Amino acid sequence: MTKPIWIIHGNQLATLASNHKGPRTGKVMSELGIIEDGSLWIEEGIIQAIGTTQELAKNFGGRIEEAEIVDASNHLVTPGLIDPHTHVVYAGSREKEFEMRLEGATYMEIMNAGGGIHATTRMTREATEVEIMEQTSRRLDSFLQHGVTTVEGKSGYGMNLETELKQLRVMKKLKKQHPIDLIPTFMGAHAVPSEFKGKEDEYVDILIQEWIPIVAKEKLAVFNDVFCEKGVFTPEQSERILEAGKKYGLIPKIHADEIISYGGAELAARVGAISAEHLLKATDEGIGKMAEAGVIACLLPATALYLRELAAKGRKMIDAGVPVAISTDCNPGSSPTTSMPLVMNLACITMRLTPAEALTAATYNAACAIKQEHLVGSLEVGKQADIVLWNVKDYRELQYLFGVNHVKAVWKKGIQVVD
Ligand code: NIG
Ligand code: FE
Repeated sequence: MTKPIWIIHGNQLATLASNHKGPRTGKVMSELGIIEDGSLWIEEGIIQAIGTTQELAKNFGGRIEEAEIVDASNHLVTPGLIDPHTHVVYAGSREKEFEMRLEGATYMEIMNAGGGIHATTRMTREATEVEIMEQTSRRLDSFLQHGVTTVEGKSGYGMNLETELKQLRVMKKLKKQHPIDLIPTFMGAHAVPSEFKGKEDEYVDILIQEWIPIVAKEKLAVFNDVFCEKGVFTPEQSERILEAGKKYGLIPKIHADEIISYGGAELAARVGAISAEHLLKATDEGIGKMAEAGVIACLLPATALYLRELAAKGRKMIDAGVPVAISTDCNPGSSPTTSMPLVMNLACITMRLTPAEALTAATYNAACAIKQEHLVGSLEVGKQADIVLWNVKDYRELQYLFGVNHVKAVWKKGIQVVD
């Protein structure tokens, strides 16, 4: 039996609790459910009670000797951050391409010349499972240090069955071994592998007829994602891949309208995707369709900055009724970062989200984008005790004092993993 934990006197306990059900948009994104002088009682990894310190003292004061007391005076307390879009499982690194891009090459030029996603695919194919696990585990450690307690991860650096399965199995193993919860997505449609150049439809057929059924049968993924972009997969090919996944119970996600307007947002609405990602070039019509269909916009402002592109229209999307989540997109090419705090900062600065909206986008809405909101994303009785104690007093300071990691302590399922 682990000792109960009693967090007391939190200057602000941002619970993210709300009466609104499902992903939040519009004004609801500003509801942080803040309790001043807040308190949490945690037992067996689960939140048992939440309220003011005075309220909890009435019920738990008699058990003070038995609990570990955490004095959160002068600190903000929030749910663990959630990263709903990463390509965290890979081998190698691409710092040379970073330099090439600064010298003038574009992301797509590098990829079409056999670099980019193809370069990481080569390195991931060659690496052993143990090597990939070690490299990924270090990145997950860094996520934890930045207050992130749940991470979605995609395959897609295999693009042959063997390596796609290798990536998904690494995720399954790491989910058991690492404190972070990893939620797996199959993304065989990350690019067309060089072996299939000029035979794109053949690759799509293999994905649909062979790989998706195997991934689903082995229960290796929850979601199915595709890079719908000119020169990668067309909207028609993307739709076929996502519809095929649906037949096997894989929920659609889609990398949409990142580099050009390509009908990706509209496609996300049409296939009933849980989320559409990137959306830098989403049209007003596409945004409207996403709002109607309730598709979550998963926005990646660090990627936009790293590619030196204008950020997605986050402000406009929230005002149009689209629920917004944010994510690092952690990957070796367009966003090699594990810092969700930085992503929240950028969401405010480059997309004009307010500090409250940025926190909702990185917690509750992020949980919804990977269907984990019944477990995490807010501090409520019965939910997992995934908690961050910050070195700031007020939630606005998290975004205002930008570019700094303000994490003081992190608990995952009631166990302290950062102190
Ligand atoms: O989400 N857009 C496609 N995939 C990743 C980049 C992957 C890479 O460059 O290795 C993304 O940005
Ligand atoms: Fe991505």
